[in-house]
Amino acid sequence: MTGSNPMSIAIDGPAGAGKSTVSKLVALRLGLQYVDTGAMYRGVALAALRRGVSPDDEPQLTAIADNLEFSFKVERPSENDLVIRVFTDGEEVTKEIRAPECGNMASKVSSVSGVRRALVAQQKHMGAAGGVVMEGRDIGSVVMPGAPVKIFLTASAEERARRRTLELEQKGTPQSFEQVLAEIRERDHRDSTRADSPLKPAPDSVTVTTDGMSIPQVVEEIVRIAESKIAP
Ligand code: DC
Repeated sequence: MTGSNPMSIAIDGPAGAGKSTVSKLVALRLGLQYVDTGAMYRGVALAALRRGVSPDDEPQLTAIADNLEFSFKVERPSENDLVIRVFTDGEEVTKEIRAPECGNMASKVSSVSGVRRALVAQQKHMGAAGGVVMEGRDIGSVVMPGAPVKIFLTASAEERARRRTLELEQKGTPQSFEQVLAEIRERDHRDSTRADSPLKPAPDSVTVTTDGMSIPQVVEEIVRIAESKIAP
């Protein structure tokens, strides 16, 4: 049954809470597979942008999500790092899907019910055998409702904006704190008010608020929660 494997961990939360970094490290620590569902919404968004499909064109977006073939290659450059290469229809799009315009489009296409239906079906399939850390927005509530460990990973909008501003500066593409904060608030609002699967903690999830915590501290906390739930 989907999500019933004892070693499934669902990690949901808003953009910029550190889900990807933390989920990968938790997967490495516990010897589980890592699935990034946001990359799939980003893959649909990239295909839509390239084909000139409007974010309001539900039939076309649904057709893209129904037909796009995803594959992932996992690489482990060092003991503490996982790199997931993302392919759509056989073409590597790992870098392209991280572009800011692709993130904005992903937020829009993810509110289209047909897109969600198509991607959730694939994600349920990926989680069915268990042994995964799956991260997204609706994993604990929709994709793996039977997962024994559900984490809602969050941080204040200001903390997330601070982290993102620093990251952009380090990348050599600086943006003002105010602009980053405004974008985060806009994205949060869209993700949490959409009609289909809005972002909110699953009732049986544990909320971890990461303001003032380092990445190793957050990983430790989640591993502790997972072990306490999974221990026989
Ligand atoms: O986590 P991310 O920023 O890569 O996700 C990109 C967009 O996809 C984001 O706006 C939220 C959406 N998303 C979603 O609606 N459901 C998921 N399970 C994962 C991501």
